[in-house]
Amino acid sequence: MTARIDDPGGSMSRTPFAPDALLFGGDYNPEQWPRETWREDIALMRRAKVNTVTLGVFSWALLEPREGEFDTAWLDEIVALLDEAGIGFFLATPTASPPPWFALAHPDAMPVDPSGTRLSHGSRDTYAISAPAYRAASRRIARVLGERYGAHPRLRGWHIHNEYGTLDFGPHAARAFRAWLRTRYANLDALNDAWCTAFWSQRYGAWDEILPPRATQYLHNPAQALDFRRFSSDEMLAAFEEQKQEIARTGSTAPVTTNLMLPAWNHLEQWSWAEAQDVVSLDHYLDTEGPDGEAHTAYGCDLARSWSGGPWVLMEQNARGIRVGDRTFAKAPDRMIRNSLGYIARGSQSSLFFQWRAGAGGSEQWHGALVPRAGGDSAGFAPVVQLGEMLERLSEVVSVPDDGPIVDARVGIVWHADGWWALETPHLPNDAITYSEEVRATHRSMWRAGIATDFVRPGSDASRYRLLLVPALYAMSTETAEWLGAYARGGGRLVVTCPSGLADEHLRIPDGPHPGLLRDLIGAGSDEILSLARGEKVTIDGGLAGEGWIERVEATDARVVARYVDGRLAGGAAITEAARGSGSVVAVTARLTQDARDAFLAGEARRAGAGPTVVGASALGVEAVRRRGARSDYLFLLHHGAAPVRVAGDGPDLVSGRDAAGGIDLAAGAVAVVRVPRGGDVAVAAADEVAT
Ligand code: GAL
Repeated sequence: MTARIDDPGGSMSRTPFAPDALLFGGDYNPEQWPRETWREDIALMRRAKVNTVTLGVFSWALLEPREGEFDTAWLDEIVALLDEAGIGFFLATPTASPPPWFALAHPDAMPVDPSGTRLSHGSRDTYAISAPAYRAASRRIARVLGERYGAHPRLRGWHIHNEYGTLDFGPHAARAFRAWLRTRYANLDALNDAWCTAFWSQRYGAWDEILPPRATQYLHNPAQALDFRRFSSDEMLAAFEEQKQEIARTGSTAPVTTNLMLPAWNHLEQWSWAEAQDVVSLDHYLDTEGPDGEAHTAYGCDLARSWSGGPWVLMEQNARGIRVGDRTFAKAPDRMIRNSLGYIARGSQSSLFFQWRAGAGGSEQWHGALVPRAGGDSAGFAPVVQLGEMLERLSEVVSVPDDGPIVDARVGIVWHADGWWALETPHLPNDAITYSEEVRATHRSMWRAGIATDFVRPGSDASRYRLLLVPALYAMSTETAEWLGAYARGGGRLVVTCPSGLADEHLRIPDGPHPGLLRDLIGAGSDEILSLARGEKVTIDGGLAGEGWIERVEATDARVVARYVDGRLAGGAAITEAARGSGSVVAVTARLTQDARDAFLAGEARRAGAGPTVVGASALGVEAVRRRGARSDYLFLLHHGAAPVRVAGDGPDLVSGRDAAGGIDLAAGAVAVVRVPRGGDVAVAAADEVAT
């Protein structure tokens, strides 16, 4: 861990996390089983070549059975067994799940929901993040663990907490929220102005009058709601930092992380969280059993890599199940393997799972695990062994390049949690438009075209991107608007899609045509936003179509490149383009259907000179990702399609061990990882079209 690399998406640099091998294993909760099972676990881990487990995520009640009394004997024992077997571990601080005694001793430290109900223990994540008793207890247990295990040679890193994200609306939160607001606004006049409290008689005359957005009679003040989300993220980050400092005080130098989460968890502003971590880690769960899950995996990876600015750790995935709504679908073994390699292709240094062994009982007893209930000799364990062996063969890909990013993307998508939170405030022109789906739809278009994509932090250096996409960034500061303008004027091609730039960072709508923050840059503005009914579509020039949101636009300093063909705005501008400096700005003020978005954005990428990783691969159902290593490049080919393909390239396939020079056949569902010289390429063709 010596090289430093520039963060392509953010504005920081970090020492890349470069373990000696790809990490394979998962959350291990031995406390549910007797000692005999521990020994069997270790034997099975060795058989599957597991080299990393995560201990202690939910072990607080065992580690501190009574307040201030600690028992680490059982953990010592399990750590010794792992050590003997040569298996490394992440050690969690167990603060996501305080024990029952804690709730009873400190009832004020239980979270309060918006309706004022104080939650009880009996599940997990029952903590009020701003409660002094909770913070003190968290620091104390972090210190105990740091002192005991912080120098252990098998310690791969610290896993602080688990998926921070419990919002609290109680008295401790109210006090801390006011302190945060005082820092942000300095005086009440500024706050009243920012929140536009003149509306509905909400003017605050004293700081103590301000509350978290608790249940109220009708709509909340949107600026208050947005600030509360920002505050909650900062408050949880402060709690994370405290634990990190406590561990550092014990002298432990192991890298520190906390697991972020996708798809739906949106309680954290990830860029600032990433800055505070030594390595970014992500839990990723498919949210569909259908083929879009592969695009979703790529989406999660590209976010994690961009937040990190380099390699990252996939901390959890499900080995066997895909939970969608009220049921769990089976994840086929070949999909489990393809997904695992998909994470690694896009910069993960690991394929870790929740969890090692199927639960003995408890709330998640039906959750998939590496060791199924049928045991280590069952057919269900065979793919786990297969994956472990494969990852060992692929181990060299962990090396991190010191001359540029791990995935060389030339398309960037601007991302900020503010966009998500802002579109969650109600009573917008169309509340059905969500940030996560708009961003994901944009990323999906690039994924379908096989084009590598980063996510980009507002204000960071975006000069490496030929194309910068701004989906649904509804609220933005003037600084962000200026940054976008500077990108375009500097020669970039900027594509802004609705609803972006309509409101400032306090959710105030500027006077004049929409989008108030961007109209000068775009060279066009609208005086009316029209929602379309569900299922209603409009046709746009060039074979495009819009749904959900259209605007009556007048181009003042831009060229109209596509007009509505039908509907209420027939003949009006849907897409405009303006020259700015040595670059250009395209504004799409109709919400494009997914097909239209795919066609339009692929065309934009082509025009900007950002092509697919392997030409023609996507059309055959092959996801191709180039991961750059210290000396070579690795072309990951994940075959999600139905018919066999032939791969040819100048190097060995590390999965099969065969040389790709003469061409290798890849069956549907299979994977190949071809090591090629820097900049070297592979070709992918339909197997039945290649002359043998
Ligand atoms: C994760 C969580 C795990 C487990 C898993 C189940 O989000 O960190 O503890 O609950 O979900 O899918």
